[in-house]
Amino acid sequence: QILILDFGSQYTQLIARRVRELNVYCEIHPYNKVPEITSDIKGIILSGSPCSVRDEGAPDVNTDAFRGKLPVLGVCYGAQLLASKYGGEVLPSTIREYGRANLDHIDLHHDLLKEMTHGSQVWMSHGDTIKELPAGFEVIASTSSVRVAAFKVEGEKTYGIQFHPEVTHSLEGKNLLRNFVVGICGCSQDWTSDTFIDSTVAELKKKIGSDKVVMGLSGGVDSSVAATLIHKAIGDQLTCVFVDNGLLRKNEFEEVLDSYKHMGLNVIGVDAKQRFYDALAGLTDPEAKRKAIGRVFIEVFDDEAHKIEGVKWLGQGTIYPDVIESVSVKGPSATIKSHHNVGGLPDFMKLSVVEPLNTLFKDEVREVGRALEIVETIIGRHPFPGPGLAIRILGDITEEKVKTLQEVDHIFIQGLKNHGLYDKVWQAGAILLPIQSVGVMGDERTYERVVALRAVGSVDGMTADWIHLPYEFLGKMSNEIINRVKGVNRVVYDISSKPPATIEWE
Ligand code: XMP
Repeated sequence: QILILDFGSQYTQLIARRVRELNVYCEIHPYNKVPEITSDIKGIILSGSPCSVRDEGAPDVNTDAFRGKLPVLGVCYGAQLLASKYGGEVLPSTIREYGRANLDHIDLHHDLLKEMTHGSQVWMSHGDTIKELPAGFEVIASTSSVRVAAFKVEGEKTYGIQFHPEVTHSLEGKNLLRNFVVGICGCSQDWTSDTFIDSTVAELKKKIGSDKVVMGLSGGVDSSVAATLIHKAIGDQLTCVFVDNGLLRKNEFEEVLDSYKHMGLNVIGVDAKQRFYDALAGLTDPEAKRKAIGRVFIEVFDDEAHKIEGVKWLGQGTIYPDVIESVSVKGPSATIKSHHNVGGLPDFMKLSVVEPLNTLFKDEVREVGRALEIVETIIGRHPFPGPGLAIRILGDITEEKVKTLQEVDHIFIQGLKNHGLYDKVWQAGAILLPIQSVGVMGDERTYERVVALRAVGSVDGMTADWIHLPYEFLGKMSNEIINRVKGVNRVVYDISSKPPATIEWE
């Protein structure tokens, strides 16, 4: 595998994505928590950083521990760190170096740059530049304004590059990463969904043995794939619990439960709608609603878990970005909204946790799900928040409001599917606003609810853009909703991106 040491760059996860796309396994670790360098680590990539190597207390790592022993590639800050540590000079750049640039001089003899082309477009994003290289370091590529765009250390497999090969604007970035990972580090490209499934199932068998596992399912991709893997390993020693919190989409509980049963999972469906509605009665604050839902979920889940005699393990669908986030250089990011599925279940459950997907990115989870032949209605499903429609009904929750919103949401989501738009959207839904507006239907004045439609494009939910849905489609949706859903007389479309808005309204 490849070890990526993270100095806090916004692009670190992208480096890992690109390496994995080469079918090579890699892990990201923070620079200040370097793992033991075992023999399965074939090379090390030092990431970029928002810091400057000239800052006091700049992130640093003991590169002597591996330099010369293993191939090393410094990217941006990583390259500057190598240069400055061994006697070179890094200074603020005099011209802004953000955006596209071209490698006008490129030494194609070097293993790192093989099969790239003269003038290759690369993506720059740095405030400092390497002015002088240490003795024994040679320049192997330059742009018109950056002399040291890439360097190599003589007699070693140590390299530095000022640009970002992981960003798609670096058109031959993938070649460069392949040259490093496959050519220079000698990694074999055999990390695929099938090998992941085989090795994970074998590990799970060994780890769990004849113990029993309980797991909560949400209908989403992650928990479904995790459960399928565990089931493949231990069969009906796994009991799944799927809770109807009364805040799911229309018919979702029945449909998803049915899919799970078809998949052979041993799943208990629990109708806990009333417990959730009772706990939510009168609550209007979004965080209070989340907390109430989280609390009741744990109570319901715990009741079910206690019915399973001798259960030892709790299965969870945690994926890699959650893990990276919780150990990242920057620390867990500030709580903008408390996500109740992060943070796990309370201690009193005293179960050991098993998380078979905690090394995978979302799209890898989907690939594994497809390789496991899980139905597309689950694999291709949009993300849906744990607190469900409760955070899409602004203000207090009543069963009647939930029903209204379910109808609106159903028309919108079916509309997206029927018009071939569902898969072009990362996440979509409807929001019930706590206001009424005047309308006219037939000869009568109405004073009814307003709903907002939301559809966003995103990669990971961290940032998002509103989608430019066709006007004709929006018009159709508005007509259908107002004509078919009682109590709604106005539809608006949310045209805010994240940041500064968020995807959900609460
Ligand atoms: P925001 O609204 O923060 O949403 O831009 C980003 C992503 O997270 C989902 N989300 C949640 N998921 N519990 C969850 O499980 C929550 O409390 C929660 N709040 C937001 C949201 O749907 C989007 O995919």
